[in-house]
Amino acid sequence: MSRSDDAHIDQEPGPDAYDATPYLPRRGGLPAHRRAAAECRGCPLHENATQTVFGQGAATARIILVGEQPGDQEDKQGEPFVGPAGRLLDKALTEAGIDRDTTYVTNAVKHFKFTLAEGGKRRIHKAPDLRELTACRPWLRAELLLVHSDVVVALGATAGKALLGRSFRVTKDRGTLIPLPDEDERRNEDVERYVVATLHPSAVLRSNDREAAYAGLVSDLEVAARALRKLH
Ligand code: URA
Ligand code: SF4
Repeated sequence: MSRSDDAHIDQEPGPDAYDATPYLPRRGGLPAHRRAAAECRGCPLHENATQTVFGQGAATARIILVGEQPGDQEDKQGEPFVGPAGRLLDKALTEAGIDRDTTYVTNAVKHFKFTLAEGGKRRIHKAPDLRELTACRPWLRAELLLVHSDVVVALGATAGKALLGRSFRVTKDRGTLIPLPDEDERRNEDVERYVVATLHPSAVLRSNDREAAYAGLVSDLEVAARALRKLH
């Protein structure tokens, strides 16, 4: 694997790379992509997961929220951020003045990756690796092209790397407006789109100082909310 820390993760997959590209529809909107993603075999994560969890929301959404990958509940229900992290996210969005119904919510990786706890029943989240993140990137790219938001919120390091490249670090890059790298030469619009990065809601739930972590999440989301108001 080539190793430049600045390399954007979706650049030049090697010959043995995992890749969702062959499963993407050539045309069509979000519904066509959602249907096609349900059949994706672009990396091995589909083998043990229940189903693809595609993004949810309207193409007219003004803000895209990107998480890491579905969790246990999301895997069972087929929708992003419906478990404990989702409940925390909903609360933080409301406090920041963002209505979840006006957002498009998705993940950098569309299948749940897990290991089985001893005893074999409980499924424990395992972070996706760079190969899986790279494989799944075409779906996120399609969503970014199909949803006409001005602001994209990266929830945590995995989403940040997927959107901004491998040199992304939550601690140094959170809470500010960062121009979204151009997704597509065909998207010939003059409008600049921005990424606001913040903590992952699950990191807030795990934090020793949950209150401070939660306040940080809300204040980063407020940066996104203010940007939206300014851009319109
Ligand atoms: N964590 C994520 O990153 N995404 C989800 O959809 C749920 C939990
Ligand atoms: Fe396809 Fe992404 Fe699922 Fe891998 S994780 S099979 S690339 S949808």
